[in-house]
Amino acid sequence: MPAEIPARKGRKGAAAARSTHRPETSGTSKSPKTPKAPDAARNGNDGIRLNRYIARAGVCSRREADDLIKRGLVKINGARVQEFFTSVLPDDTVEVNGKRISASPHAYILLNKPKDAIATKNDPRNRRTVMDLLAIPEKDKRSLFPVGRLDRDTSGVLLITNDGELAHRLMHPRYEVDKLYRVCTRAAVKPHEIDLLKKGVPLEEGPGKADEAAYVALPNRREIGLRMHEGRNRQVRRMFEALGHEIAALERVNYAGLTAKGVRIGKWRRLQPFEIRRLKRQVHMQ
Ligand code: URA
Repeated sequence: MPAEIPARKGRKGAAAARSTHRPETSGTSKSPKTPKAPDAARNGNDGIRLNRYIARAGVCSRREADDLIKRGLVKINGARVQEFFTSVLPDDTVEVNGKRISASPHAYILLNKPKDAIATKNDPRNRRTVMDLLAIPEKDKRSLFPVGRLDRDTSGVLLITNDGELAHRLMHPRYEVDKLYRVCTRAAVKPHEIDLLKKGVPLEEGPGKADEAAYVALPNRREIGLRMHEGRNRQVRRMFEALGHEIAALERVNYAGLTAKGVRIGKWRRLQPFEIRRLKRQVHMQ
């Protein structure tokens, strides 16, 4: 059983959060509207870290949020906050640069990715991305990102979310999340090559291995099913290239138990609560 990923540095308790809210002063002796410092009875464990909250609101990345906090551009309940470890509690009002923001609840989307869509949030060359396929308001898209990579020419199941912790764990090799691929090759794959896919194909950084490899339906030897928990960059393609095979089509038919059943290519759906629970269980979040 994989062990838990050590908790990431972050939230401190309520005491730390409280000490970090610095009410702004007007510079005059009157100062009648000094913002109220957060309630001393708050429980820091209920909150989420300020930089994460800002990122989830789609303002910027967590690292950029740290910079905004450092520059004194962030307020909680009217009080300027310049401490990174501050928690935001459910009833807090958060402002960035004088504008109120609010973090979106977690969203979990399964896309049946077509070829020719890039699995990224933004493409510097302005090509079609997977985000362009989601018919949801831009403001709701801002915090979303695809979990892991699927090459431009690969189709199939792609998870898109704004749950950074779940995404981080699903991609972490420690949890050995299963992926199933259907690989179509130009030429017939020989039985000893199927064995090599399971034993390990030499790649630049060390052998690449499938947990299972088999013909999908004999006598067709140009369609192979692979079950993998490894997930290095372009790994399936590189494994087949190393065997001297050209891939005609690559589809991910299953990701961590999710399939594209009932979702046409290029379409998407939101995950059901039981599916979210199942994903979280796989990576020990529940
Ligand atoms: N392996 C690859 O080579 N490409 C993908 O898109 C996914 C897995």
